[in-house]
Amino acid sequence: MALTQQRRADGSLRHLLTLEGLTRDEIESLLERAQHHVRRLGEPAPHSSALAGVTVANMFTEPSTRTRVSFELAAKRLGADVVNLEVQLSSRVKGESMLDTVFTLEALHVDVFVLRDAEQGVPAMVASHVAPHVSVLSAGEAHVSHPTQGLLDALTVLQHKKRCDGLAIAIVGDIRHSRVARSAACHALRTLGTTDIRIVAPEALMPDPAEFEGCARSTSIETGIEGADVVMMLRIQKERFANTTIPAGDDYFREFGLTAARLAKARPDAIVMHPQPMNRGVEIDGAVADGPRSVIRQQVTNGVAVRMAALEILAAPLAARKAR
Ligand code: NCD
Repeated sequence: MALTQQRRADGSLRHLLTLEGLTRDEIESLLERAQHHVRRLGEPAPHSSALAGVTVANMFTEPSTRTRVSFELAAKRLGADVVNLEVQLSSRVKGESMLDTVFTLEALHVDVFVLRDAEQGVPAMVASHVAPHVSVLSAGEAHVSHPTQGLLDALTVLQHKKRCDGLAIAIVGDIRHSRVARSAACHALRTLGTTDIRIVAPEALMPDPAEFEGCARSTSIETGIEGADVVMMLRIQKERFANTTIPAGDDYFREFGLTAARLAKARPDAIVMHPQPMNRGVEIDGAVADGPRSVIRQQVTNGVAVRMAALEILAAPLAARKAR
């Protein structure tokens, strides 16, 4: 799908399939809106009726804990109706196509689809077939993109560092198969001004040379995180590849795991991030994950706020129509 197809004729965002093509102003206003919700997350629900009358469907064909639950909470906290399709228990297993399932849900007056799929191109394909008032948000597309994760990662960095430009950000682990790394490094952080982005991975988990343009590459965690302000760790996404020449479990931890000793190479005030799910003792030491520099749980909290902001911004015209 051409990037322009994310937008309505007036240029406003209708779908969120990728962060590619979003301007700095657009990303900043999404994050400002999210920050507004962060302050309110501790308050008793419901917080808002901004999406009253709007129906949101979560359709995830890949496992998810944080993203699915936070999209559900985000929609509910905005007053929307929410349905969670258990794809494994749906008519998809009887051979119904993705589009027939989508058209069925449209006939049930679903207005917003939140989609996670292992196949590249599915969110864009659905977006190009839905009715004009309907919005599609990607909740993770294959290894390609994970726009709301990129936004919540940027929000977390901003909360701690007050800016993204001038920072050294190291992303460490299975970059090759990571939609999180692509959305954060290639779009969110770069658009917000970060120029020193390092991708740090064993050779077998490095992306193709044409990708991650402008990012420094390192196959040593010690060198890669030296002087970094932010260290973002990634899980090895075994579900995305068969052949593995990379060391398993303990061996990987010995070569690439983030320990307190290694973290000492980063700046003294460096923060540690991880999109989760994490494998303690593989890519990260449990003590570091739970330690004072870890902002991993804050990332989760920010996920709800960012998804509230995205839902509000995309569905604003629809919500206004429903309110009339
Ligand atoms: C990630 C994903 O699904 O891409 N998780 C998430 O959404 N927070 C990362 C992963 O699965 O390793």
